[in-house]
Amino acid sequence: MKVSFITCATVASLLAVVKAATPDEWRSRSVYFLLTDRFARSDNSTTAECDAQLGHYCGGSWQGIINQLDYIQNMGFTAIWITPVTEQLNQSTADGESYHGYWQQDINSINSNYGTAADLKALASALHDRDMYLMVDVVANHMGYAGAGTDVDYSVFNPFNSQDYFHPYCEITDYNNLTMVEQCWEGDNTVSLPDLDTESTDVQNMWYTWIPELVANYSIDGLRLDSALEVQKDFWPAWNNASGVYCVGEVFNGDAAIACPYQNYLDGVLNYPMYFPLLRAFESSSGSISDLYDMINTVKSDCADSNLLGTFVENHDNPRFANYTSDFALAKNALAFTILSDGIPIIYSGQEQHYSGGSVPLNREATWLSGFDTTAELYQFIAKLNKIRNYAIQLDKGYTTYKANPIYQDTNNLAIRKGTNGSQVITVLSNSGADASSYSLAISGTNYTAGTVVTELISCTNITVSDSGDVSVPMASGLPSVLYPASKLNKDGHPC
Ligand SMILES: *[C@@H]1O[C@H](CO)[C@@H](O)[C@H](O)[C@H]1NC(C)=O
Ligand SMILES: *[C@@H]1O[C@H](CO)[C@@H](O)[C@H](O)[C@H]1NC(C)=O
Ligand SMILES: *[C@@H]1O[C@H](CO)[C@@H](O)[C@H](O)[C@H]1NC(C)=O
Ligand SMILES: *[C@@H]1O[C@H](CO)[C@@H](O)[C@H](O)[C@H]1NC(C)=O
Ligand SMILES: *[C@@H]1O[C@H](CO)[C@@H](O)[C@H](O)[C@H]1NC(C)=O
Ligand SMILES: *[C@@H]1O[C@H](CO)[C@@H](O)[C@H](O)[C@H]1NC(C)=O
Ligand SMILES: *[C@@H]1O[C@H](CO)[C@@H](O)[C@H](O)[C@H]1NC(C)=O
Ligand SMILES: *[C@@H]1O[C@H](CO)[C@@H](O)[C@H](O)[C@H]1NC(C)=O
Ligand SMILES: *[C@@H]1O[C@H](CO)[C@@H](O)[C@H](O)[C@H]1NC(C)=O
Repeated sequence: MKVSFITCATVASLLAVVKAATPDEWRSRSVYFLLTDRFARSDNSTTAECDAQLGHYCGGSWQGIINQLDYIQNMGFTAIWITPVTEQLNQSTADGESYHGYWQQDINSINSNYGTAADLKALASALHDRDMYLMVDVVANHMGYAGAGTDVDYSVFNPFNSQDYFHPYCEITDYNNLTMVEQCWEGDNTVSLPDLDTESTDVQNMWYTWIPELVANYSIDGLRLDSALEVQKDFWPAWNNASGVYCVGEVFNGDAAIACPYQNYLDGVLNYPMYFPLLRAFESSSGSISDLYDMINTVKSDCADSNLLGTFVENHDNPRFANYTSDFALAKNALAFTILSDGIPIIYSGQEQHYSGGSVPLNREATWLSGFDTTAELYQFIAKLNKIRNYAIQLDKGYTTYKANPIYQDTNNLAIRKGTNGSQVITVLSNSGADASSYSLAISGTNYTAGTVVTELISCTNITVSDSGDVSVPMASGLPSVLYPASKLNKDGHPC
C-alpha cells in the first residue's frame, strides 16, 4: 500500500511543475500549524480585533503569512501547515462563519477572504526560497451547507452539484460504529456537512483528478487530510498516490488499534494515540508517566512507522495545553516530548505565546494579538528544541528513522533515547512543575560509554558519564534536560 517515489515522480512529471516532497523528505521537517484567518494580516496589524468566541472572519491572509515568515523560521520550523484554501459557504450562521475553511462549496475556487490565487502561489514560493515546505489541509469527506441536512440545495456545490454524489442524510450518533462514521454526516442542523459518497467511482475519479491539480497549481509539498476517519480506508491509497506528496490523515481517535491501521493506507496519521497520554502526563504533577511510557511502545508496535506520524500536544480542535495548567515548566516538558520524540513535530500557532483558549472556538485566538513577540519564553524554548532536533538530524542520518526507546520512568520522570550509536539524544522529562526543588536522576541505558563527556543542551553544561555508564542528570525547577555528546557540538548550527 505504500506510495512509491517512482509513482509520485511520474504523476508529478505529467503535470510538469511540481517539486513534490516525499514521506522520506518530510521525516526531518518540523511543522508550524496555523489557521490562515487567525495568524497574520496583510496590513501587519497587531491590534485588529478578533474575538474567537464569535467565530467570525478576523482578516488573516496568505500575504500576512508571507510577511511573518521570519517569525516562524527563526523558531526553527522547516514547514507550515495551513487550513483549507477552497471556497466556502458565504453565510454568517448561528455556528459562525467559515473562517476555518472546513465548510467548502466550490473546490475549484479559492477562498478570497485569504487573498488571491497569486498570493497563495507567492506563499509557496516564499517558503521554497527559504527551503521550507507548504502543507495544505484538504477535505475529501464533505462539503458545507448553511441549513439542515434534510434541506440541502445541492446545486450550490461545484463540482458535486447533485444529491447523487452524496450519502443519504443521517446524523453520526455513535462514533464507535465505523460504518456510521463513514456514511453519515458530521455537522449539525445549522451547518450540515453533506457527506460525499466516497464509495462511488464518480466521486473517487473526481477527487483523484482534482488532488494532483491542486498540488501542482499551488506547488504544495504535503497534505493534511481532514476527517480521514470519516472516509472508508480504501479510498485513501489512490488519493495519496495521485497527490504525489506526503499525506497525513486526521484520525481523531486515541486508540492505537483504531488509528494505526490507517497508516497502511496513508503515509501518516496525526498521533492522537500519543496526544491523550502526553497531555495527561504533563497537565499536572499527578499525571501518569507510565501511560505515556507504555504508549511509546504501543505506537511503535501498532503503527507502520512512528516516525511518519504527526506528533502534537495542541491543535485547533482541542483546548490548548495552557488551558489545563499555567505552569511554564510543564508546558516546556510537553514541548520537549513533541519535538524530540518520534514523528514529525507539529506546533500550533499561539502555543509559543502560551495561549490558553479552551474548547472550539476559544482555542483559535489571533496570533497577531501577541505582537509576534520573539522574546516570549516559549518562543525561545521552541527555537532551542528545534535547533537541537535540526542539529541531531544533520549529524545523524539515522535519527529520523530511529524509533525512540523509553529507558527510564518513575512517578514524575521519563527518559527516552533517540538516535544511532554514538549520537544518541537523551531527553529527560519531568512533570514536577516549576515549583519543584532541583534534584538529579541517575539514568542508565543511555548507551554512552563510561567517561564520555555529554552536554546538557538546555543549560549548556557538561556532565561526565560515570564508570558504570550512568549519567547523573540535573533536573532544575521542573525543566526537561537533553543530553548529547559534547564532542559532537563542533559543527555550524550547534545548540550551545
Ligand atoms: C508588512 O510587513 C512587510 C514585511 O514585514 C512589509 O514588506 C510590508 O510593507 C508591510 N505592509 C504594511 C501594509 O505595512
Ligand atoms: C462573503 O463573500 C464576500 C465577498 O467575497 C466576503 O467579503 C465576505 O467576507 C463573505 N462572508 C462570509 C461570511 O463568508
Ligand atoms: C452502525 O451504523 C449503521 C449505519 O448507520 C447501521 O446500519 C448499523 O445497524 C449500526 N451498527 C450497530 C452495531 O449499531
Ligand atoms: C488548476 O489550474 C487549472 C489551470 O488554471 C485550472 O483549470 C484548474 O481548475 C485548477 N485546479 C485546482 C484544483 O486548483
Ligand atoms: C498509483 O499510481 C500508479 C501510476 O499512476 C498506478 O499504476 C497504481 O495503480 C496506483 N496505485 C494505487 C494504490 O492507486
Ligand atoms: C479554559 O477554557 C475555558 C473555556 O473552555 C475558559 O472559560 C477558561 O478561561 C480557560 N482557562 C484559561 C486559563 O484560559
Ligand atoms: C550501543 O552502542 C553500541 C556500540 O557503541 C552499538 O553497537 C549498539 O548498537 C548500541 N545500542 C543501541 C540500542 O543503540
Ligand atoms: C557505531 O559508531 C562507530 C563509530 O562512530 C561506527 O564505527 C560503527 O559502525 C557504529 N555502529 C553502528 C551499529 O552503527
Ligand atoms: C564541554 O566539553 C567539551 C568537550 O570536552 C568542551 O569543548 C566544552 O568547552 C565544554 N563546555 C563547557 C561549558 O565546559
